[in-house]
Formats: sequence, C-alpha cells, structure tokens
Amino acid sequence: MSAENLGSTGFDERPVPFSTAGDRPWGEGLRSQVWFGDPGKTGFMHRSWLRSEGLPDDTFEGRPVIGIANSWSELTSCNIHLRALAEHVKRGVWQAGGVPFEFPTTSAGEPLVRPTAMLLRNLMAMDLEETLRMNPLDGVVLLAGCDKTTPAYLMGAASVDLPTLLITGGPMLNGKYRGTDIGSGTSVWRFTEAYRAGQITADDVREAEGCMARSQGHCMTMGTASTMACVSEYMGMQLPGTAALGANDSRRATAAHLAGRRIVEMVAEDLRPSKILTRAAFENGVRANAALGGSTNAVIHLLALARRVGVELTLDDFDELVRDIPVLADLMPSGRFLMEEFQDAGGTAGLAATLGELLHRDTPTVTGRTLGENYDGAEVWDREVIRPLENPVKPVGWGIAVLRGNLAPRGAVIKQSAAKPELMTHTGRALVWDSLQQYLAEADDPDLDVDASDILIVRNVGPKGYPGMPEVGNMPLPRKILEAGILDMVRISDARMSGTSYGTIVLHVAPEAAAGGPLALVRTGDRVTLDVPNRSLSMDVSDDELERRRAQWSAPVVAGAERGWIKLYTEHVVQADEGCDLDFLQGRSGAAVGPQAF
Ligand code: FES
Repeated sequence: MSAENLGSTGFDERPVPFSTAGDRPWGEGLRSQVWFGDPGKTGFMHRSWLRSEGLPDDTFEGRPVIGIANSWSELTSCNIHLRALAEHVKRGVWQAGGVPFEFPTTSAGEPLVRPTAMLLRNLMAMDLEETLRMNPLDGVVLLAGCDKTTPAYLMGAASVDLPTLLITGGPMLNGKYRGTDIGSGTSVWRFTEAYRAGQITADDVREAEGCMARSQGHCMTMGTASTMACVSEYMGMQLPGTAALGANDSRRATAAHLAGRRIVEMVAEDLRPSKILTRAAFENGVRANAALGGSTNAVIHLLALARRVGVELTLDDFDELVRDIPVLADLMPSGRFLMEEFQDAGGTAGLAATLGELLHRDTPTVTGRTLGENYDGAEVWDREVIRPLENPVKPVGWGIAVLRGNLAPRGAVIKQSAAKPELMTHTGRALVWDSLQQYLAEADDPDLDVDASDILIVRNVGPKGYPGMPEVGNMPLPRKILEAGILDMVRISDARMSGTSYGTIVLHVAPEAAAGGPLALVRTGDRVTLDVPNRSLSMDVSDDELERRRAQWSAPVVAGAERGWIKLYTEHVVQADEGCDLDFLQGRSGAAVGPQAF
C-alpha cells in the first residue's frame, strides 16, 4: 500500500468474521463482549449509558470496538488537526463493521511545556495504557504527531498489546522566508544565533516567526517528530507510504480512513504489537533512522519501547547496527531539503526501496504483509532528495556514535552527520556550568574566559536533574565566539537535543550528574578528550582525584520534586541508556479485563 495507491481500497466492507484463535487473557471472542455481551444487569449498565450517544441497540452485537486515542490539544499545535483526522478513522471503522470511540489523553506539546515535554511522555503513555485496559476496547488507532506523543502512545499501547495501528499527523508545509525555504527548529537556531551575533534585526526574527509554522502538522525537518513517524512505519506500526504525507494532504485523510478499516481486520486477525515489534523490527527502525539522518531522541524512545515489549535492544546497537548505513535522505538538519520534498521524491516507500536488503524485508507489519511486500514496486522520483547508495549525503560511518569513558561510563551519543568533522577528535579545556540557567546568564558576558578550542559542559540537565532531560544539549555558543564568526564548539551534557539541531554535541551522558555520574565531578580547567573514531569521551583526571571530588559531592535539589508527578518521575525514571521510562512501567501490563463493580 504505497502512497501512490491510497485511492484503491482493497477491503471487504462487510463486518469481518471474528477469529476465536489466540491466547487472549479475557477468554474467547471479542474483549468488548465481556462488557456488552452480558444479558443481565452488568450488560444493561454498560450498554444503556452508551445509548445516550445515539447508538442503535444492535451496535454491540459482536462488532469490534475500536478506540481512537487522540493527542489533540490546543496546547499541542502540531496535533491540532487530529480531531478532524479522527473523523476519517471513524468512517473507516464503521465501514468495516466496527464501532469507533474517540477519546482524549494527556498530550505533550514540544513548544510550550516547561521544563520539557519529555517529562510528560511517560505520563501520557501511562494514561493511554490505563485507558485501554479499563475500557471495552478490542483494538486501537493512535493519533499522534508531536515529538513525544508518538513514542508515548506506542509505549502505552505496546504494554497493553491490543491490536494497534498508528497514524501520525504528518509534517506541515515548508516554511517560506523571503524566497527561501526555512525549516522548523533548524532555522530557529540559525535565526536566533544570527540575531545574537548582530547580523539580523528583531524585526527580521519576528517576520521569520510567521513564515515558519504556516500550516497544520508537525515539524517539517527530519526532527524527532518526522523521525519517529518514519521509524514507526519501518517498524511496521503505520500504513506504508504514509509517514511523510503532509498534514494537509488529502491522502493523509484517506490513510486515516483506511487505517479505520484495517484496524477492524487486525482485531479479527489478532494482529498485536507483540507480533510486529520484534528484534528485527527494532533493527529496521535503528537502521532506517541512520539512513534518514534522524534524531538522537529516537535512541531514547526506541530503548524505552523495546523494554516495554521485552526486546533486547542496547545503546550500542545504535552504533553497531548502522555502520553499513549511509545517510540517504538529504533533509535538514543534516541536509538541504524538507519533508515536502522527501514525500514528493518518493517518501518512506522510496527510501525503503533504496535501502532494499539493508532492511529486514520479512518483518510483519500492520497490513498483514511483510515490510518487503509493502514496498514492492516503490520508486524514487528525485535522487537529489533521496540519494542512491552510491552517492549518499554522508557515507557509511556517519550515523549516531556511542561514546564511553571515565566521563560517561554508561554511554553518551553524538550525531555525527550534524557535527563538524574537524572537531570529532578534539582535546580542550573544560568550562563547566552546574545549571543551564547559570550558563545562559554568563554566555553573553564579553569578559567570559572562553575560546573556540574549549569544551563547554552543562550538567544537571538529565532525566532526574532538570527534571525530564530537556533539549538543551545544543546550548547556544557564547556571544564572543559567535562574534568571532565561529559556529561550532564541542558541547557536552546529560541533556537531549532537538532533532532539528546541529553541531558537535555530545548528549545523553549516563549516568547523569544528578544521579552521581562522573559528569558531576569534572571541573573547569580539566582536560577533556572527545575521540569519536575510537568512541571515547574522557577527562584527564586520576581515579584518586575523582574519589576526592566524589566525597565532596552532594546531589542537587530538584525544583518541584517534592510532590505530584515530578516526585513520582524523579524517584522512578531510569537513565538515558535505558530509555528514561519509569522503572515500574517497563514490560507489559496486558489487556486482561478487571473485575466488575456492579
Ligand atoms: Fe511538535 Fe515539532 S514541535 S513536532
């Protein structure tokens, strides 16, 4: 089902016969019939109140009940169109003989949530998980699109393991500024750095604001949202050829309609995430991410998702599995183009065709066909955007590298395709700040003692420390450096960075400083060495000296951690090398039906 044939249905529109085969914890038949199939008081209660929604009395006679989980929120602008998209899913569900129920969950919008939307990913996943478990649902379509909403929904649904199909919201139109294309996030960094360096005015910046997000949809660079959308498709959880379709492209509405039909069939086939999200599917996701020049955030999200479904996936896999994968998609921030050009060039189907046997082609997908069958016959229409293997954007060896050493014993990552080649092996003096705020307060000081060979380190911005591990690893360069015309320096932190960012930036240092990792012990003036070819990140400080420093160290006080969600989060979040999930959410809860209350 490539983007080119979304117009043909290929579906039988009659209600599907439901298979009773399988290992369902609620017994034989539809899970929803535990609620609706009872002729007595309990069934009366369940059916009667739903009649207030105008449903005929035969609605619940053996039809699959499909949840449509919607991360729509006016606080999540990238998901603002998902209410409308849900209507198309519903049409498909009704048409195939199912019964759709749309429901909201916690949402997590990247641009607004402080300190970071990442703090809400696990809450959103837990919200979805419990909503699915507690309601009479046989399958679910997930509507997501912003950076954290997609992984959150996949994590929650994977833990429950009902038949699940993801539809992401699609990218917005290209930004257009004074005759040039500008990309979400990527151009924000460029505009604001140019402004700080005095190269453009505040009016220029204000004008650019209105030119960037000029339609519905998620960020149109290969940032985290586009990355997670495409990677999810290659892992088998989205309809093929749909991840890169524009938010306002009518083919996306068609895809939503087809998703509604298909989820009803998936219920009949008992096709659940546990059958799709295999180790091979994760390998496809990791490898596709490298070919896309995708976000470092995918590392954290896929590690967390793998732990939900019990697949062995390690941080080192993100380095070792991609050593034969070149960057093929010429997309910002690593390249030149945006998602509109990617889709027009052939999109996810075209890239899959280019990768060929570099992806496992026999992995199952939501279509019921294998990944290879899904993309049979796909073509590329513009080889400037989706490059051939023999003429890549970056050759093999430019994927995400995993670094270790006495500064990051459990690992750190660097996105090589977004880094400066001359800095990949570099020793310099460490300049260390204990908080982002402290760094920002000093970064523009004309008397700051800094030069381009120094290594900037900001700590206590990890999962526990900030909390939530915000996207601040690409901290802005000191004004003095920018004014000297220098656009990159080695930066190290326990934070993440936006998938739309670029630079020689070492991220996800684990264990983080707030958890007592050695990053907490490095001091200004220490010599630090980044050696990407040898996968090393170290400080030239003796073990004895580090022990002396450790004896003087105490954990920082984390604002807001005394109550509520942030308390629960900081007490239970696992480190970046394990995906930043909560320890008690790893694994599956399952779809067993709870006891009745009346
Ligand atoms: Fe939501 Fe970029 S801010 S996708």
